Amino acid sequence: MPADILIGTQWGDEGKGKLIDVLTRDVDMVVRFQGGNNAGHTVEIGDRKYVLHLVPSGIFRPGVKCVIGNGVVVDVLGLTSEMQDLARQGMDVSAIELSDRAQLIFEYHKRADAIGEDGATVKIGTTRRGIGPAYADKADRCGIRGIELTRPEQLEKLFRAQAAKYNRLFARAGQPELDVDAEWAKVKEAAAYLAPFVRNTVYSVDAMLKAGKNVLCEGAQGGLLDIDHGTYPFVTSSSTVSGGACSGAGIPPRMVRDVWGVLKAYTTRVGEGPFPTELFDDNGENLRKVGNEYGATTGRPRRCGWFDAVASGYSCMISGVNKLAVTKLDVLDDLPELQICVAYELDGKQTAELPASAEDLVRVKPVYETLPGWQCSTSGVTSYDQLPENAKRYLARLGELVNAEIAIVSVGPRRDQTFEV
Ligand code: GDP
Ligand code: IMO
Ligand code: MG
Repeated sequence: MPADILIGTQWGDEGKGKLIDVLTRDVDMVVRFQGGNNAGHTVEIGDRKYVLHLVPSGIFRPGVKCVIGNGVVVDVLGLTSEMQDLARQGMDVSAIELSDRAQLIFEYHKRADAIGEDGATVKIGTTRRGIGPAYADKADRCGIRGIELTRPEQLEKLFRAQAAKYNRLFARAGQPELDVDAEWAKVKEAAAYLAPFVRNTVYSVDAMLKAGKNVLCEGAQGGLLDIDHGTYPFVTSSSTVSGGACSGAGIPPRMVRDVWGVLKAYTTRVGEGPFPTELFDDNGENLRKVGNEYGATTGRPRRCGWFDAVASGYSCMISGVNKLAVTKLDVLDDLPELQICVAYELDGKQTAELPASAEDLVRVKPVYETLPGWQCSTSGVTSYDQLPENAKRYLARLGELVNAEIAIVSVGPRRDQTFEV
């Protein structure tokens, strides 16, 4: 039976966590397939708010299996404390499986990430969670994988060898070295906690699909942060597009049914990098305030701007999005007019394509189309029919421009502030 994939279509923080939680009503297994605890996925249920970083957002639905797939980079101490926190709050963490092939993140990756950022002339504005260094080790074939959590002696040998290598790098950079014994003590304890959750998850996913169950893959970050297709070098280090789910979860492409694209009704970005529709005026400040646009992982203020149909359309095209979930429509409620970027102007010529070079993308001038606002509250709306006409017109235009059908609209952070179209 089919697997569905849900990805962010912009620069992350589109509301993927909320949508996964909503969609898992009808799902048997949720699989994270890339990224690590650079992600911050918020789920609000009633008056409780949870932020997940590595644990799949299906954890709040009893009976749903939650898989951390082979494509994920797993902060060993981070995952341990996230799972222990959830268990303390009454969640059934026995639903979690951790891939034996997932790459592990240790303190030295985080430190290397921070040193790299601090010393770089071109800063990416990473989350400093060690994501880049961990994927670099993977590609360099010296990473340590989930399977080693079940073999403490082997894990210690590999950990000490890698830590010594990183310490030589830190020493050369004039940075304090890692206390390897102290770090190992923490890792050893965390590994003992995590070992019982380690599985060959590709077989678990396959068994689900063969049994006719529904599997939903949970993307992190967003298409424009993709290592291949995003606004390089201002990207993350993994495949955030739908294609990443096949290799990062071990799902054959022909088993995929729907690709859900989560699309924020405007645009945000955290960290550095080009952002053609960014607003530096009161409108930007207003979006940040009303939309509560502060990073769920780092607390950094998110940069805010108008909806960019060139960038989002490109992202939907690459991921083959056929179902859109538009989020945060309510954040636009008070605006008298809305702008949508429908093309870029570069060197006097109009284009509807996203340029490959970040330098060019910094130089483009957005070509805007103006739509009237609706200036009334949508946060209590429970069906598409109840939406004001101008909100329907705005949604229809977004769907048309990114060439995908809107299937769900979200008008608030809670589960119940969601309706189908
Ligand atoms: P993710 O990384 O894609 O899961 O998104 P984040 O959790 O980082 O950021 C989305 C934020 O918007 C969270 O604080 C959500 O609770 C909130 N949110 C999600 N959907 C809506 C919505 O439709 N309206 C409003 N106002 N907030 C929303
Ligand atoms: P979710 O899953 C928004 C950004 C960082 C930085 C760049 C590279 O919550 O949508 P990294 O630490 O990955 O090396 O940083 O990517 N970034 C995110 N931005 N949401 C995220 O995740 C992000 N994960 C990474 O801000 O610009
Ligand atoms: Mg987030």
